[in-house]
Amino acid sequence: MASIVVLGGQWGDEGKGKVVDLLTEHVDICARFAGGHNAGHTVKVGDTKYPLHLVPCGILRPNITCVIGNGVVVEPKQLVEEIEQLARQGIEVQGRLWVSDRAQVVLPPHPALDRAKEALLADGKKIGTTSRGIGPAYSDKASRVGLRLVDLDDDDGPDRLEAFLRSRNELLVKTYGAEPLEVEEVLETVFGPGGQRDQLRPYVKNTAEYLYRRLADGASLLAEGAQGALLDLDHGTYPFVTSSSATAGGACTGLGIPPTRIDAVFGVFKAYTTRVGGGPFPTELLDDIGDTIRERGHEYGTTTGRPRRVGWFDAVAARHAVKINGISSIALTLLDVLDAFEELKVCTAYRHRGQALTEYPSSLQVLAECEPVYRTMKGWNTPLSEKTSFNDFPPAAREYVELLAELLKTEIALVSVGPERRRSIRLESEFFEKLGA
Ligand code: GDP
Ligand code: IMO
Ligand code: MG
Repeated sequence: MASIVVLGGQWGDEGKGKVVDLLTEHVDICARFAGGHNAGHTVKVGDTKYPLHLVPCGILRPNITCVIGNGVVVEPKQLVEEIEQLARQGIEVQGRLWVSDRAQVVLPPHPALDRAKEALLADGKKIGTTSRGIGPAYSDKASRVGLRLVDLDDDDGPDRLEAFLRSRNELLVKTYGAEPLEVEEVLETVFGPGGQRDQLRPYVKNTAEYLYRRLADGASLLAEGAQGALLDLDHGTYPFVTSSSATAGGACTGLGIPPTRIDAVFGVFKAYTTRVGGGPFPTELLDDIGDTIRERGHEYGTTTGRPRRVGWFDAVAARHAVKINGISSIALTLLDVLDAFEELKVCTAYRHRGQALTEYPSSLQVLAECEPVYRTMKGWNTPLSEKTSFNDFPPAAREYVELLAELLKTEIALVSVGPERRRSIRLESEFFEKLGA
Protein backbone atom coordinates (compact mmCIF):
# COMPACT_ATOMS: atom_id res chain seq x y z
CA MET A 1 0.00 0.00 0.00
CA ALA A 2 1.23 3.43 -0.91
CA SER A 3 1.41 6.67 1.06
CA ILE A 4 -0.21 9.66 -0.57
CA VAL A 5 -0.82 13.35 -0.14
CA VAL A 6 -4.32 14.63 -0.90
CA LEU A 7 -4.64 18.37 -1.32
CA GLY A 8 -6.74 21.12 -2.81
CA GLY A 9 -5.66 22.47 -6.19
CA GLN A 10 -7.59 25.76 -6.13
CA TRP A 11 -8.62 28.22 -3.40
CA GLY A 12 -9.99 25.66 -0.95
CA ASP A 13 -13.36 23.93 -0.55
CA GLU A 14 -12.69 21.60 -3.47
CA GLY A 15 -14.35 18.69 -1.68
CA LYS A 16 -11.16 17.41 -0.03
CA GLY A 17 -13.21 16.10 2.90
CA LYS A 18 -15.32 13.87 0.69
CA VAL A 19 -12.33 12.60 -1.28
CA VAL A 20 -10.23 11.94 1.84
CA ASP A 21 -13.15 10.05 3.37
CA LEU A 22 -13.36 7.86 0.25
CA LEU A 23 -9.64 7.17 0.04
CA THR A 24 -9.13 6.39 3.72
CA GLU A 25 -10.79 3.05 2.98
CA HIS A 26 -7.41 2.08 1.55
CA VAL A 27 -4.91 3.41 4.14
CA ASP A 28 -4.02 2.94 7.81
CA ILE A 29 -3.33 6.51 8.96
CA CYS A 30 -4.86 9.87 8.05
CA ALA A 31 -2.82 12.92 9.08
CA ARG A 32 -3.59 16.64 8.74
CA PHE A 33 -0.46 18.63 7.99
CA ALA A 34 -1.36 22.34 7.79
CA GLY A 35 -3.83 25.05 8.62
CA GLY A 36 -6.09 25.17 11.62
CA HIS A 37 -9.79 25.59 12.27
CA ASN A 38 -9.99 27.99 9.33
CA ALA A 39 -10.55 24.78 7.37
CA GLY A 40 -14.08 23.46 7.02
CA HIS A 41 -14.60 20.01 5.57
CA THR A 42 -18.07 18.56 5.24
CA VAL A 43 -18.29 14.82 4.85
CA LYS A 44 -21.60 13.13 4.19
CA VAL A 45 -21.97 9.48 5.10
CA GLY A 46 -25.44 8.16 4.39
CA ASP A 47 -27.78 10.92 5.52
CA THR A 48 -25.44 12.21 8.23
CA LYS A 49 -23.24 15.26 7.73
CA TYR A 50 -20.00 15.59 9.64
CA PRO A 51 -18.56 19.10 9.69
CA LEU A 52 -14.86 18.85 10.53
CA HIS A 53 -12.38 21.67 11.07
CA LEU A 54 -9.35 20.22 12.86
CA VAL A 55 -9.92 16.49 13.16
CA PRO A 56 -8.79 14.62 10.02
CA CYS A 57 -11.63 13.27 7.87
CA GLY A 58 -10.25 9.74 8.26
CA ILE A 59 -11.82 9.67 11.73
CA LEU A 60 -15.08 8.51 10.15
CA ARG A 61 -13.51 5.15 9.28
CA PRO A 62 -13.27 3.05 12.46
CA ASN A 63 -9.98 1.34 11.59
CA ILE A 64 -8.01 4.48 10.88
CA THR A 65 -5.65 6.26 13.23
CA CYS A 66 -5.66 10.03 12.82
CA VAL A 67 -2.87 12.49 13.43
CA ILE A 68 -2.90 16.27 13.72
CA GLY A 69 0.65 17.15 12.75
CA ASN A 70 3.08 19.78 13.99
CA GLY A 71 2.27 21.94 10.95
CA VAL A 72 -1.27 22.50 12.19
CA VAL A 73 -2.16 25.30 14.61
CA VAL A 74 -4.50 23.94 17.27
CA GLU A 75 -7.20 25.92 19.02
CA PRO A 76 -7.86 23.80 22.13
CA LYS A 77 -11.51 24.79 22.65
CA GLN A 78 -12.33 24.00 19.02
CA LEU A 79 -10.59 20.64 19.18
CA VAL A 80 -12.37 19.64 22.39
CA GLU A 81 -15.73 20.71 20.94
CA GLU A 82 -15.10 18.74 17.78
CA ILE A 83 -14.17 15.62 19.74
CA GLU A 84 -17.39 16.01 21.78
CA GLN A 85 -19.49 16.58 18.67
CA LEU A 86 -18.06 13.42 17.09
CA ALA A 87 -18.86 11.49 20.27
CA ARG A 88 -22.46 12.74 20.09
CA GLN A 89 -22.54 11.39 16.53
CA GLY A 90 -21.33 8.01 17.78
CA ILE A 91 -17.65 8.36 16.90
CA GLU A 92 -15.16 7.83 19.71
CA VAL A 93 -11.73 9.21 18.98
CA GLN A 94 -9.72 8.42 22.10
CA GLY A 95 -6.90 6.03 21.29
CA ARG A 96 -7.10 6.80 17.56
CA LEU A 97 -6.46 10.52 17.43
CA TRP A 98 -3.00 11.87 18.19
CA VAL A 99 -2.05 15.51 18.22
CA SER A 100 1.55 16.57 17.76
CA ASP A 101 3.18 17.91 20.90
CA ARG A 102 5.02 20.30 18.57
CA ALA A 103 1.82 21.83 17.19
CA GLN A 104 1.41 25.51 17.98
CA VAL A 105 -1.49 26.60 20.14
CA VAL A 106 -3.97 29.17 18.85
CA LEU A 107 -4.52 31.41 21.88
CA PRO A 108 -7.24 34.02 22.55
CA PRO A 109 -5.12 37.01 21.41
CA HIS A 110 -4.79 35.43 17.96
CA PRO A 111 -8.40 35.84 16.77
CA ALA A 112 -8.52 39.25 18.47
CA LEU A 113 -5.45 40.36 16.51
CA ASP A 114 -6.75 38.77 13.31
CA ARG A 115 -9.93 40.88 13.53
CA ALA A 116 -8.07 44.03 14.56
CA LYS A 117 -5.60 43.75 11.66
CA GLU A 118 -8.35 43.16 9.11
CA ALA A 119 -10.35 46.10 10.44
CA LEU A 120 -7.42 48.42 9.71
CA LEU A 121 -7.17 47.38 6.05
CA ALA A 122 -8.96 49.42 3.41
CA ASP A 123 -11.64 47.85 1.22
CA GLY A 124 -9.98 45.97 -1.58
CA LYS A 125 -6.97 45.30 0.65
CA LYS A 126 -8.81 43.16 3.21
CA ILE A 127 -7.76 39.53 3.02
CA GLY A 128 -11.16 38.37 4.19
CA THR A 129 -9.71 35.92 6.69
CA THR A 130 -11.84 33.46 8.60
CA SER A 131 -11.11 35.52 11.79
CA ARG A 132 -9.89 32.37 13.50
CA GLY A 133 -6.50 33.82 14.41
CA ILE A 134 -4.61 31.67 11.93
CA GLY A 135 -2.33 34.42 10.53
CA PRO A 136 -1.30 35.73 13.98
CA ALA A 137 -0.70 32.17 15.26
CA TYR A 138 1.64 31.32 12.37
CA SER A 139 3.31 34.75 12.68
CA ASP A 140 4.06 34.05 16.33
CA LYS A 141 5.39 30.63 15.40
CA ALA A 142 7.77 32.20 12.86
CA SER A 143 8.71 34.93 15.35
CA ARG A 144 9.48 32.22 17.91
CA VAL A 145 7.20 33.60 20.57
CA GLY A 146 4.32 31.14 20.21
CA LEU A 147 3.60 28.21 22.52
CA ARG A 148 3.49 24.61 21.42
CA LEU A 149 1.28 22.05 23.14
CA VAL A 150 4.38 20.48 24.71
CA ASP A 151 5.41 23.84 26.18
CA LEU A 152 2.27 23.95 28.31
CA ASP A 153 3.68 21.09 30.39
CA ASP A 154 7.02 22.73 31.12
CA ASP A 155 7.55 24.17 34.59
CA ASP A 156 7.65 27.64 33.13
CA GLY A 157 4.59 27.05 30.88
CA PRO A 158 2.26 29.31 32.91
CA ASP A 159 4.91 32.06 33.13
CA ARG A 160 5.53 31.92 29.38
CA LEU A 161 1.84 32.08 28.62
CA GLU A 162 1.36 34.98 31.01
CA ALA A 163 4.23 36.93 29.44
CA PHE A 164 2.84 36.17 26.00
CA LEU A 165 -0.65 37.34 26.94
CA ARG A 166 0.66 40.57 28.47
CA SER A 167 2.73 41.37 25.38
CA ARG A 168 -0.24 40.68 23.11
CA ASN A 169 -2.53 42.83 25.25
CA GLU A 170 -0.10 45.69 24.80
CA LEU A 171 -0.22 45.21 21.05
CA LEU A 172 -4.01 45.00 21.01
CA VAL A 173 -4.46 48.14 23.08
CA LYS A 174 -1.58 50.37 21.92
CA THR A 175 -1.38 49.46 18.23
CA TYR A 176 -4.92 48.48 17.38
CA GLY A 177 -6.99 50.33 19.98
CA ALA A 178 -8.74 47.05 20.78
CA GLU A 179 -9.87 45.64 24.12
CA PRO A 180 -7.29 43.69 26.18
CA LEU A 181 -7.96 40.10 27.24
CA GLU A 182 -8.34 39.00 30.87
CA VAL A 183 -4.97 37.38 31.54
CA GLU A 184 -6.01 35.49 34.68
CA GLU A 185 -9.09 34.14 32.97
CA VAL A 186 -7.09 32.77 30.03
CA LEU A 187 -4.50 31.23 32.37
CA GLU A 188 -7.27 29.50 34.31
CA THR A 189 -8.92 28.20 31.13
CA VAL A 190 -5.64 26.67 29.99
CA PHE A 191 -4.00 25.57 33.24
CA GLY A 192 -6.88 25.34 35.75
CA PRO A 193 -7.97 21.90 36.98
CA GLY A 194 -9.81 20.15 34.14
CA GLY A 195 -8.73 23.00 31.85
CA GLN A 196 -7.66 22.77 28.23
CA ARG A 197 -4.22 21.36 29.02
CA ASP A 198 -5.79 18.49 30.96
CA GLN A 199 -8.48 17.93 28.37
CA LEU A 200 -5.99 17.58 25.54
CA ARG A 201 -3.30 15.63 27.41
CA PRO A 202 -4.66 12.17 26.44
CA TYR A 203 -4.26 13.04 22.78
CA VAL A 204 -0.88 14.74 22.73
CA LYS A 205 2.28 12.89 21.75
CA ASN A 206 5.36 13.05 19.58
CA THR A 207 3.55 12.24 16.35
CA ALA A 208 6.63 12.44 14.12
CA GLU A 209 8.14 9.57 16.12
CA TYR A 210 4.81 7.73 16.00
CA LEU A 211 4.58 8.12 12.20
CA TYR A 212 8.19 7.03 11.81
CA ARG A 213 7.49 3.81 13.67
CA ARG A 214 4.19 3.04 11.93
CA LEU A 215 5.60 3.71 8.47
CA ALA A 216 8.66 1.58 9.25
CA ASP A 217 6.22 -1.22 10.17
CA GLY A 218 4.61 -0.95 6.74
CA ALA A 219 1.58 1.20 7.51
CA SER A 220 0.25 3.44 4.76
CA LEU A 221 -0.49 7.11 5.21
CA LEU A 222 -2.83 9.64 3.70
CA ALA A 223 -1.59 13.18 4.36
CA GLU A 224 -4.68 15.38 4.34
CA GLY A 225 -4.33 18.93 3.09
CA ALA A 226 -6.40 21.89 4.14
CA GLN A 227 -7.04 25.05 2.09
CA GLY A 228 -5.66 24.87 -1.46
CA ALA A 229 -2.59 25.49 -3.59
CA LEU A 230 -3.58 29.07 -4.45
CA LEU A 231 -3.93 29.86 -0.74
CA ASP A 232 -0.41 28.55 -0.03
CA LEU A 233 1.78 31.12 1.71
CA ASP A 234 4.61 30.77 -0.84
CA HIS A 235 2.92 29.63 -4.03
CA GLY A 236 -0.50 31.21 -3.78
CA THR A 237 -1.89 34.64 -4.59
CA TYR A 238 0.07 36.41 -1.85
CA PRO A 239 -0.96 38.34 0.24
CA PHE A 240 -4.49 36.97 -0.35
CA VAL A 241 -3.47 33.60 1.04
CA THR A 242 -3.51 31.74 4.29
CA SER A 243 -0.41 31.59 6.49
CA SER A 244 0.61 27.96 6.11
CA SER A 245 2.07 25.61 3.48
CA ALA A 246 -0.98 24.11 1.86
CA THR A 247 1.08 22.49 -0.89
CA ALA A 248 2.77 19.07 -1.02
CA GLY A 249 6.00 20.20 0.68
CA GLY A 250 3.89 21.15 3.68
CA ALA A 251 3.07 17.48 4.18
CA CYS A 252 6.73 16.74 4.95
CA THR A 253 7.42 19.68 7.24
CA GLY A 254 3.95 19.56 8.76
CA LEU A 255 4.18 15.90 9.75
CA GLY A 256 7.91 15.26 10.07
CA ILE A 257 8.05 12.71 7.27
CA PRO A 258 10.66 12.67 4.49
CA PRO A 259 9.69 13.34 0.84
CA THR A 260 10.97 9.86 -0.02
CA ARG A 261 8.04 8.42 1.94
CA ILE A 262 5.46 9.92 -0.41
CA ASP A 263 4.41 7.81 -3.37
CA ALA A 264 1.84 10.08 -5.02
CA VAL A 265 0.17 13.46 -4.79
CA PHE A 266 -3.55 13.47 -5.47
CA GLY A 267 -5.09 16.84 -6.36
CA VAL A 268 -8.71 17.67 -5.67
CA PHE A 269 -10.27 20.17 -8.08
CA LYS A 270 -13.80 21.43 -8.40
CA ALA A 271 -15.29 21.36 -11.88
CA TYR A 272 -15.48 25.17 -11.63
CA THR A 273 -13.73 27.62 -9.28
CA THR A 274 -14.64 29.24 -5.97
CA ARG A 275 -12.83 31.49 -3.57
CA VAL A 276 -13.79 33.04 -0.24
CA GLY A 277 -12.27 36.33 0.79
CA GLY A 278 -10.41 38.97 -1.21
CA GLY A 279 -7.90 38.79 -4.05
CA PRO A 280 -7.85 38.60 -7.86
CA PHE A 281 -10.03 35.97 -9.50
CA PRO A 282 -9.75 36.14 -13.31
CA THR A 283 -12.63 33.78 -14.14
CA GLU A 284 -15.05 35.18 -11.56
CA LEU A 285 -18.71 35.24 -12.63
CA LEU A 286 -20.60 38.22 -11.26
CA ASP A 287 -23.77 37.38 -13.17
CA ASP A 288 -26.75 35.00 -13.09
CA ILE A 289 -24.57 32.08 -14.13
CA GLY A 290 -22.42 32.66 -11.04
CA ASP A 291 -25.53 32.86 -8.86
CA THR A 292 -26.89 29.63 -10.31
CA ILE A 293 -23.62 27.80 -9.67
CA ARG A 294 -23.50 29.19 -6.11
CA GLU A 295 -27.02 28.01 -5.35
CA ARG A 296 -26.67 24.62 -7.05
CA GLY A 297 -23.33 23.98 -5.32
CA HIS A 298 -24.46 25.40 -1.94
CA GLU A 299 -21.38 27.55 -2.13
CA TYR A 300 -21.48 29.07 1.34
CA GLY A 301 -18.47 28.67 3.65
CA THR A 302 -18.53 25.75 6.10
CA THR A 303 -16.52 27.78 8.61
CA THR A 304 -17.95 31.29 8.24
CA GLY A 305 -21.17 30.85 6.22
CA ARG A 306 -19.95 33.52 3.75
CA PRO A 307 -21.16 33.23 0.14
CA ARG A 308 -18.26 31.95 -1.92
CA ARG A 309 -17.20 33.82 -5.05
CA VAL A 310 -17.77 31.63 -8.09
CA GLY A 311 -16.18 31.37 -11.55
CA TRP A 312 -15.40 29.11 -14.50
CA PHE A 313 -12.69 26.46 -14.24
CA ASP A 314 -9.30 28.14 -14.56
CA ALA A 315 -6.87 25.73 -16.19
CA VAL A 316 -3.95 28.20 -15.95
CA ALA A 317 -4.27 28.35 -12.17
CA ALA A 318 -4.92 24.61 -11.95
CA ARG A 319 -1.86 23.81 -14.06
CA HIS A 320 0.23 25.94 -11.67
CA ALA A 321 -1.09 23.78 -8.81
CA VAL A 322 -0.26 20.59 -10.71
CA LYS A 323 3.32 21.75 -11.29
CA ILE A 324 4.22 22.95 -7.81
CA ASN A 325 2.69 19.92 -6.11
CA GLY A 326 3.72 17.21 -8.56
CA ILE A 327 0.08 16.18 -8.79
CA SER A 328 -0.04 12.93 -10.74
CA SER A 329 -3.76 12.21 -10.49
CA ILE A 330 -6.89 14.21 -9.94
CA ALA A 331 -10.31 13.97 -8.35
CA LEU A 332 -12.77 16.23 -10.14
CA THR A 333 -15.60 17.14 -7.78
CA LEU A 334 -19.00 18.83 -7.90
CA LEU A 335 -19.38 18.06 -11.61
CA ASP A 336 -23.14 17.63 -11.01
CA VAL A 337 -23.35 21.34 -10.15
CA LEU A 338 -22.75 22.04 -13.86
CA ASP A 339 -25.70 19.86 -14.93
CA ALA A 340 -27.98 22.81 -15.65
CA PHE A 341 -26.21 24.69 -18.43
CA GLU A 342 -26.47 24.78 -22.22
CA GLU A 343 -22.92 26.03 -22.48
CA LEU A 344 -19.85 25.96 -20.24
CA LYS A 345 -16.57 27.82 -20.40
CA VAL A 346 -13.08 26.77 -19.44
CA CYS A 347 -10.21 29.23 -19.15
CA THR A 348 -7.31 27.82 -21.16
CA ALA A 349 -4.91 30.79 -21.07
CA TYR A 350 -4.60 34.38 -19.87
CA ARG A 351 -4.04 37.48 -21.98
CA HIS A 352 -2.15 40.31 -20.39
CA ARG A 353 -1.93 43.66 -22.21
CA GLY A 354 -2.57 41.87 -25.49
CA GLN A 355 0.04 39.15 -24.92
CA ALA A 356 -0.80 35.50 -24.32
CA LEU A 357 0.38 34.25 -20.93
CA THR A 358 0.50 30.57 -20.19
CA GLU A 359 2.30 30.79 -16.85
CA TYR A 360 0.55 31.70 -13.68
CA PRO A 361 1.82 35.20 -12.84
CA SER A 362 3.54 35.89 -9.53
CA SER A 363 2.66 39.57 -9.64
CA LEU A 364 -0.73 40.32 -8.22
CA GLN A 365 -1.01 43.39 -10.39
CA VAL A 366 -0.45 41.29 -13.51
CA LEU A 367 -2.92 38.67 -12.30
CA ALA A 368 -5.54 41.33 -11.63
CA GLU A 369 -5.04 42.66 -15.18
CA CYS A 370 -5.26 39.24 -16.85
CA GLU A 371 -8.15 38.48 -19.15
CA PRO A 372 -9.14 34.84 -19.38
CA VAL A 373 -9.14 33.15 -22.78
CA TYR A 374 -12.09 30.77 -22.84
CA ARG A 375 -12.90 27.60 -24.69
CA THR A 376 -16.67 27.21 -24.90
CA MET A 377 -17.97 23.71 -24.36
CA LYS A 378 -21.40 22.21 -24.88
CA GLY A 379 -23.28 21.64 -21.63
CA TRP A 380 -24.96 18.26 -21.00
CA ASN A 381 -28.03 19.65 -19.30
CA THR A 382 -28.96 16.33 -17.67
CA PRO A 383 -28.47 15.14 -14.09
CA LEU A 384 -25.28 13.19 -13.47
CA SER A 385 -25.89 12.33 -9.83
CA GLU A 386 -27.35 8.85 -10.52
CA LYS A 387 -24.67 7.85 -13.01
CA THR A 388 -22.48 4.97 -11.92
CA SER A 389 -19.93 4.80 -14.70
CA PHE A 390 -18.05 7.30 -16.83
CA ASN A 391 -19.27 5.52 -19.96
CA ASP A 392 -22.86 6.35 -18.98
CA PHE A 393 -22.10 10.06 -18.95
CA PRO A 394 -23.58 12.11 -21.77
CA PRO A 395 -20.87 12.76 -24.41
CA ALA A 396 -20.69 16.47 -23.51
CA ALA A 397 -19.88 15.64 -19.86
CA ARG A 398 -17.20 13.18 -20.94
CA GLU A 399 -15.74 15.79 -23.27
CA TYR A 400 -15.65 18.34 -20.44
CA VAL A 401 -13.76 15.95 -18.14
CA GLU A 402 -11.42 14.90 -20.93
CA LEU A 403 -10.65 18.52 -21.82
CA LEU A 404 -9.61 19.27 -18.24
CA ALA A 405 -7.37 16.19 -18.13
CA GLU A 406 -5.77 17.31 -21.39
CA LEU A 407 -5.26 20.91 -20.25
CA LEU A 408 -3.77 19.78 -16.93
CA LYS A 409 -1.74 17.00 -18.60
CA THR A 410 -2.84 14.77 -15.71
CA GLU A 411 -5.08 11.75 -15.40
CA ILE A 412 -8.47 12.16 -13.76
CA ALA A 413 -8.91 9.15 -11.50
CA LEU A 414 -12.16 10.06 -9.79
CA VAL A 415 -15.21 12.12 -10.70
CA SER A 416 -17.61 13.15 -7.95
CA VAL A 417 -21.26 13.82 -8.77
CA GLY A 418 -22.72 14.31 -5.29
CA PRO A 419 -21.67 14.64 -1.67
CA GLU A 420 -22.37 11.02 -0.72
CA ARG A 421 -19.74 8.30 -0.89
CA ARG A 422 -21.65 6.36 -3.55
CA ARG A 423 -21.77 9.34 -5.90
CA SER A 424 -18.17 8.78 -6.90
CA ILE A 425 -17.03 7.39 -10.20
CA ARG A 426 -13.65 5.80 -10.56
CA LEU A 427 -11.92 6.04 -13.90
CA GLU A 428 -9.27 3.68 -15.08
CA SER A 429 -6.11 5.15 -13.61
CA GLU A 430 -2.60 4.47 -12.44
CA PHE A 431 -3.55 6.10 -9.16
CA PHE A 432 -5.89 3.40 -7.88
CA GLU A 433 -3.50 0.73 -9.06
CA LYS A 434 -0.72 2.33 -7.02
CA LEU A 435 -3.02 2.59 -4.00
CA GLY A 436 -3.78 -1.09 -4.34
CA ALA A 437 -7.45 -0.25 -4.41
P1 GDP B 1 -13.22 20.96 1.52
O1 GDP B 1 -12.94 22.14 2.38
O2 GDP B 1 -12.31 20.87 0.35
O3 GDP B 1 -13.26 19.67 2.29
O4 GDP B 1 -14.67 21.19 0.91
P2 GDP B 1 -15.98 21.68 1.71
O5 GDP B 1 -16.47 20.56 2.55
O6 GDP B 1 -15.73 22.99 2.37
O7 GDP B 1 -16.96 22.00 0.51
C1 GDP B 1 -17.38 21.01 -0.38
C2 GDP B 1 -18.91 20.82 -0.26
O8 GDP B 1 -19.39 20.16 -1.39
C3 GDP B 1 -19.33 19.98 0.93
O9 GDP B 1 -20.54 20.46 1.43
C4 GDP B 1 -19.52 18.58 0.32
O10 GDP B 1 -20.47 17.80 1.01
C5 GDP B 1 -20.00 18.91 -1.03
N1 GDP B 1 -19.59 18.00 -2.10
C6 GDP B 1 -18.43 17.31 -2.22
N2 GDP B 1 -18.39 16.67 -3.40
C7 GDP B 1 -19.53 16.97 -4.05
C8 GDP B 1 -20.06 16.66 -5.35
O11 GDP B 1 -19.45 15.96 -6.14
N3 GDP B 1 -21.25 17.21 -5.67
C9 GDP B 1 -21.95 17.99 -4.83
N4 GDP B 1 -23.12 18.49 -5.24
N5 GDP B 1 -21.49 18.33 -3.60
C10 GDP B 1 -20.30 17.83 -3.22
P1 IMO C 1 -10.72 24.45 3.44
O1 IMO C 1 -9.75 23.50 4.11
C1 IMO C 1 -11.51 28.29 1.58
C2 IMO C 1 -9.17 31.69 3.01
C3 IMO C 1 -9.96 32.76 3.71
C4 IMO C 1 -9.14 33.98 3.32
C5 IMO C 1 -7.70 33.45 3.36
C6 IMO C 1 -6.97 33.75 4.65
O2 IMO C 1 -12.11 24.31 3.92
O3 IMO C 1 -10.59 24.34 1.96
P2 IMO C 1 -7.15 32.70 7.08
O4 IMO C 1 -8.29 32.66 8.05
O5 IMO C 1 -6.62 31.36 6.71
O6 IMO C 1 -6.06 33.63 7.51
O7 IMO C 1 -7.78 33.38 5.76
O8 IMO C 1 -7.81 32.05 3.18
N1 IMO C 1 -9.34 30.34 3.57
C7 IMO C 1 -10.10 29.39 3.00
N2 IMO C 1 -10.91 29.44 1.91
N3 IMO C 1 -11.36 27.13 2.25
C8 IMO C 1 -10.54 27.05 3.33
O9 IMO C 1 -10.25 25.89 3.93
C9 IMO C 1 -9.90 28.23 3.77
N4 IMO C 1 -9.07 28.51 4.79
C10 IMO C 1 -8.72 29.80 4.64
O10 IMO C 1 -11.28 32.83 3.24
O11 IMO C 1 -9.42 34.33 1.99
MG1 MG D 1 -13.91 23.82 3.14
